[in-house]
Amino acid sequence: MADIAVIGAGYVGLTLAVGAASMGHDVTVGEADPDRVADLMAGHCPLFEAGVGDLLREGLASGLLTFTTSNTDAVTAAEFVFLALPTPSAADGSANLSVLHAVVDELAPHLGERVLVLKSTVPVGTNRDVTARLRAADCTAPVVSNPEFLREGTALADFMRPDHVVVGGDDAEAIAQVAALFDPDCPVTATDPMSAELVKYATNAYLATRVMMANSFADLCEALGADIDAVTAGLGRDHRIGPFFLQPGPGFGGSCFPKDARALLDLAADHGLDVPILAAAVKVNADRQERMAEAVLAEVAGVFEPVVGLWGLAFKAGTDDTRESPALRIGELIADRGATVQAYDPEAVAGDSIRLCDSALDAATGADVLVVATEWPEFAGEDLTEVAEAMRGDLVMDLRNLLDPEAVRAAELRHRQIGKPEQE
Ligand code: UGA
Repeated sequence: MADIAVIGAGYVGLTLAVGAASMGHDVTVGEADPDRVADLMAGHCPLFEAGVGDLLREGLASGLLTFTTSNTDAVTAAEFVFLALPTPSAADGSANLSVLHAVVDELAPHLGERVLVLKSTVPVGTNRDVTARLRAADCTAPVVSNPEFLREGTALADFMRPDHVVVGGDDAEAIAQVAALFDPDCPVTATDPMSAELVKYATNAYLATRVMMANSFADLCEALGADIDAVTAGLGRDHRIGPFFLQPGPGFGGSCFPKDARALLDLAADHGLDVPILAAAVKVNADRQERMAEAVLAEVAGVFEPVVGLWGLAFKAGTDDTRESPALRIGELIADRGATVQAYDPEAVAGDSIRLCDSALDAATGADVLVVATEWPEFAGEDLTEVAEAMRGDLVMDLRNLLDPEAVRAAELRHRQIGKPEQE
């Protein structure tokens, strides 16, 4: 077992830290925010992320996990230093590396021969830039890129049972050491730093493009009277395609797909290249949410003081994250056009122009149209007869194909779904 420092207690860093401690590694986390450190040391998990809170408390109790506001203290005993720092989009879409650079500069005099591992999603070329930055500061630490593929909501499960591990760098021994830290049965892609960094972007770009394709096929289904479930089932059974990431909906959101797509496009442009399909995915996605907002508004055109009920604000179920959330964007677009939008989400709280409700039924009460925008399973369990009685109108626009069409019909509500023949 190894001594590990993790710098940054966001969802990637914290998941890594609690997961590594649960495997028996000795983990010290450096986190700049003193309130967050105090909360974590008290066993309070700041993330809505299944299982992380339990492992946090186990790690604190076993003594294998500790937190500090001092990055230099965090690395003192470490053999491996993982950086899991924010890399937000700059105004031009490129990734802003100022936090990462500041931490590298801060740690350079303290790293010695420790292995520095880049966990944050960083532009291709960052490993070698960071290496050059360290060398300029007379630091000889090897730098290994080990991108993460965690999904919010299932981050811990993804960390504990990854499909694969990617490690890239210019020091073969350091790469092998990082690969050996985790699941020994997991397939490992050991490569150069540029390729490791590109795998991460390529994965998110490819998945975003798949979602775009599924949504475009759903549009075609609606126009042609075909059924998207049959189309994606058929697609998914072709082993060259596979069944995942073909669920149509209001488009992709979250803190990763949109940001990483923009960053990859920016990177390509820097090299005089274009990735037209990815640019299309970004545009189709944004247009889709506008089109969905327009479709809702068309249903309440002519209604005096229209009211729209919105089920969901998070960008997907299982998280409280509303960054680039399609649900939130659609709600805000509708509210900006003068309709009252009243929303309920089991975990997320957001939206300046949106009225937040305490329950799904509250959000539906008095609504002319009910929009299902996040696929929380509990929405599917709502008593739709009660919902129908509480609504002013009778239309449910189910942007996630979540509700049981039979139950909607039994409640005498009209049901619009994505990529399905209309049933009213
Ligand atoms: C994504 C990747 O799946 C992770 O592998 C990656 O580590 C992470 O980004 C990251 O770069 O940090 P995440 O943003 O948590 O994870 O969300 P996903 O579950 O991938 O969903 C992304 C968006 O696509 C969501 O808005 C979701 O609703 C949408 N989506 C996903 C669909 O509309 N249809 C699908 O079939 C799948």
